[in-house]
Amino acid sequence: MAGKTLRVSKIRKGTVIDHIAGGHALDVIKILGITGRAGGAVTVAMNVPSKRLGMKDVVKVEGRELNPKEVDKIALLAPHATINIIRDYKLTEKKRVKLPKVIRAILKCANPACISNSKEPVQPTFYVDMEDPLHLRCHYCGYIMEKQDVLKQF
Ligand SMILES: Nc1ncnc2c1ncn2[C@@H]1O[C@H](COP(=O)(O)OP(=O)(O)OP(=O)(O)O)[C@@H](O)[C@H]1O
Ligand SMILES: [Mg+2]
Ligand SMILES: [Zn+2]
Repeated sequence: MAGKTLRVSKIRKGTVIDHIAGGHALDVIKILGITGRAGGAVTVAMNVPSKRLGMKDVVKVEGRELNPKEVDKIALLAPHATINIIRDYKLTEKKRVKLPKVIRAILKCANPACISNSKEPVQPTFYVDMEDPLHLRCHYCGYIMEKQDVLKQF
C-alpha cells in the first residue's frame, strides 16, 4: 500500500462527520459555522472513495460536539451522514443523522407571499416529501423548498 494512504493525526476530542455525500463538506462546514479561526484542528476530505456512497466527504472537527439543531441541519443536506463522537482519541459514540418527517423552527418558507412570512404567529412547518434530492413542502402554501433554498438560510 506504500504511496496509497496518507495518515492524518487523530483528534483527541471532537466530532467526525462521515459519509457526507461527495461535494457537500462545505455545506456542513457552513452549518457548523466553522471559519478555521477558532484554533481547533479541522480536517476536510472531499470525494474520497466509499463503499456505501461511491464518493464521500468527511469533516473532522477537534474540540467540538454538535448540538441537536446542528445535527438536524446536517440531516437536511447530508441525509446519510454519520456523526462520530471522539473522546480521548477513541470513538465513543456513533449515530446516523435522521431527518424527521416534519420540520419546524429551523427554516423559513422561501415563498415571500406565504402566510408564515407575514406577521401572523404561525410556526413555519414543512413535510419531508423526498430526502434525496430534498423536497420540503410548506404546510401553509405548498411551496416546495429544495436544497438551494435551504442552503441560503444556513
Ligand atoms: N481519534 C480519531 N481522530 C480522527 N478521526 C477518527 C478517530 N477515531 C475514528 N475516526 C474516524 O471516525 C470515522 C468512524 O470511525 P470507525 O472506526 O467507526 O470507522 P468505520 O469502521 O469505517 O465506520 P463506518 O462503518 O461508520 O464507516 C472514520 O472516518 C474514522 O477515520
Ligand atoms: Mg467507514
Ligand atoms: Zn409557505
